Amino acid sequence: MKITKLPMSRWLDYKNLYMESIANSPQAFLWTKEEIGSKEDSEWQGRIKNMFFAITGDEKLVGMAGFYCEEKKKLAHIANIVRVYVSPECRGKGIGKQLLLTVIEDIKSKPEIKKLQLGVIATQNAAYNLYKSVGFKKIGEQKMAISVDDEFYDKYLLEMILNED
Ligand SMILES: CC(C)(COP(=O)(O)OP(=O)(O)OC[C@H]1O[C@@H](n2cnc3c(N)ncnc32)[C@H](O)[C@@H]1OP(=O)(O)O)[C@@H](O)C(=O)NCCC(=O)NCCS
Repeated sequence: MKITKLPMSRWLDYKNLYMESIANSPQAFLWTKEEIGSKEDSEWQGRIKNMFFAITGDEKLVGMAGFYCEEKKKLAHIANIVRVYVSPECRGKGIGKQLLLTVIEDIKSKPEIKKLQLGVIATQNAAYNLYKSVGFKKIGEQKMAISVDDEFYDKYLLEMILNED
């Protein structure tokens, strides 16, 4: 298993893994299958540069994690952690943690970024524990943050300040 970035040419593999992630954990990710269908190829090609992937020996993608920064100058010191996912058959082996730590190391190489933030739906216990295990702190909670199939889910807000001490 290796953790690596992918060239833009592999954008379809990235899109397929995202499709898998929303099929398996619809409440954990924001886009719906229909919304994904309407995205331009350039959307995936643009976002893949800030994504890391877990890849098996036979080149199958089984996990991902990434980040994005807002274009607004006043928010340029914040990285948003997104799309953290490991395929069900590969969970519990430390892949999620390895992916997240790799993303954090990558962000730390960008001196302009001072803070990481993310939202995790309250039902996603494994993800919440994973984030806490690498140093994220819960700073708040949003009620009814998303709605999936007429059910509402709360969201925990987490953040990590870099170079705090
Ligand atoms: C969250 C997720 C990526 C974890 O991937 P993983 O490879 O299984 O995680 P790891 O094996 O690296 O575990 C890392 C830590 O996560 C936590 N964790 C993992 N699985 C857990 C579980 N089933 N229950 C509780 N905590 C769990 C633990 O703190 C664990 O650390 P430990 O092994 O030292 O106790 C995976 O479960 C997943 O894809 N979930 C669905 C998608 C999702 O919720 N994404 C988050 C969107 S915000």
